[in-house]
Amino acid sequence: MSSKSIGIFDSGVGGLSIWNEIHLLLPMESTIYLSDSKHAPYGPKGKEAIIELSVKNTEWLINQGCKLIVVACNTATTNAIDILRKNYSIPFIGIEPAIKPAALQSKSKAIGILATKGTLSSHLFHETSQLYSSDLLVVEQVGDGIVELIENGALYSDQMKHLLQSYLQPMLDAKIDCLVLGCTHYHFLTPILKQLLPEHVKIIDSGKAVARQTKSILESNILLNTETSVEQNRFYTNGNVKVIDSLLKSETARIKKIDF
Ligand code: DGL
Repeated sequence: MSSKSIGIFDSGVGGLSIWNEIHLLLPMESTIYLSDSKHAPYGPKGKEAIIELSVKNTEWLINQGCKLIVVACNTATTNAIDILRKNYSIPFIGIEPAIKPAALQSKSKAIGILATKGTLSSHLFHETSQLYSSDLLVVEQVGDGIVELIENGALYSDQMKHLLQSYLQPMLDAKIDCLVLGCTHYHFLTPILKQLLPEHVKIIDSGKAVARQTKSILESNILLNTETSVEQNRFYTNGNVKVIDSLLKSETARIKKIDF
């Protein structure tokens, strides 16, 4: 079992930011990444639709023999991970907006959260937010349109820059000093955000924490790969292969287009 792959899914290419961190920390692990780009964005969909797609992705990865699944999508985690954990026996790792680290680091006591509508309106997000934000001003912003631009290969477009400027302005007016990236796609915005934000505003995302958690859960379940065979990393998409390729920090990636 331990030599089997870690399964990772997202509504599209955003979860590659998590794959990069997992691969860096656990280079001996084989991985299977599933990008459900055809159904992106998940963010504006209702809870039931997000659950249905998350179940479909999970079953596809389980059929590939994965030993653990990383839900590399804040929207799917906050809406569906409880149900996935209830229905399947393998371990699941999820990702949620990193409010706690932002709350602890903020000196101005004002933080911004950029996330999808599905994440910001979820019960799980509200619970976490209430827990850590009692003495904080939290400026929430739905990142409408960002996922679509990234999925269409328009990460570095003027349209993206203008969209981000309009989303950041209310946060800057509120004097935030931490910006939480609450969607795995948004990690790829970091170079643009650094240009748009004052230097003292920290950009906080959860990729490294998810990789550490993945390692810890593999260890505690005795699932770390102990075989010396060369690892394999496979990527499957029902969208554009070129977009995955452009965001992957891997020269040996095998990307396959599937009908899914
Ligand atoms: N990467 C997903 C997330 O972390 C994007 C959601 C979407 O497809 O709208 O929330």
